[in-house]
Amino acid sequence: MKIAVIGAGAMGSLYGGYLSKVSEEVYLVDVWQQHVDAINKNGLIVEGKDRETVVYPKAVSSAEEIGYVDLALIFVKSTITGSALEKNKAILGPDTIVLSLQNGYGNVEQMAEYVNINNIIAGTTAHGSTMLAPGHIKHAGKGETHIGWVQKRKDGRIDSISDILSRAGFETIVSDNVMELIWSKLIINVGINALSAILNLKNGELLIYDETKELMRMAILEAVKTAKAAGIDFDEEEMVKKVMNIAFATGENKSSMLQDILNKRKTEIDTINGAIVKVGVKHSVETPVNVVLTTLVKTLEKTR
Ligand code: PAF
Repeated sequence: MKIAVIGAGAMGSLYGGYLSKVSEEVYLVDVWQQHVDAINKNGLIVEGKDRETVVYPKAVSSAEEIGYVDLALIFVKSTITGSALEKNKAILGPDTIVLSLQNGYGNVEQMAEYVNINNIIAGTTAHGSTMLAPGHIKHAGKGETHIGWVQKRKDGRIDSISDILSRAGFETIVSDNVMELIWSKLIINVGINALSAILNLKNGELLIYDETKELMRMAILEAVKTAKAAGIDFDEEEMVKKVMNIAFATGENKSSMLQDILNKRKTEIDTINGAIVKVGVKHSVETPVNVVLTTLVKTLEKTR
């Protein structure tokens, strides 16, 4: 399978890197030239819990030379999904499947402007990854990958994708309810990311303090109420437990939002806690905790 990963940050590099062990043609596409050069020179170093692996995907800064791919995995920030597809449309043939495992709300809508909806798969990942240096990442937490067609139907191509992801080491489960997947991941990020970024705490450290656990809980419950108003029903207590479990499983990880703040990058706050506020307004659900978290992260973006 010919695969391109658009956006080779910590997560894109992790998926592309491991996929290159089981697929002969895997490209990491990223504008960060130092990272591209380091991968092409020394391979991608993946630091695991107890050992280090080196994998050898090809890295490029422009997708022009790749041609059509069978699978394009989108791992750019949810704030630039549309513009990344526009920039890399040279790899999108009529049968290219585009898979988003990004954080945040609104990726599918942005993708549908560039890709036939019948070729879009979306999903979630519970893996955690941190960028240590150009060409060097840390695989900070493992978990399931869930994928599903955005347009519900029987189409066996998703099974080949699930199979290749599983063989690469990403235990993958196919679902027929992609909106539930997206909301479920959104709520995980709502509970973890902004708080970890504001307080400069690793995911696992959020579980040490009663105060942070309570704030996580309040943000999650607002998000569950908002999801319900939007037609997606979750059990409140189960969802709180799920988010806490993921914070534990990725305990050593600095959330992607904390990494963005530390690296002075724009965060995904608008498509995470900000999305809860927006959808809440639409359905008249009050979301004061998420308003505060959104506002604090936006302030941090300006002051860091
Ligand atoms: O955004 C992130 O960092 C990740 O989605 C997660 C699951 C919170 C792990 O760090």
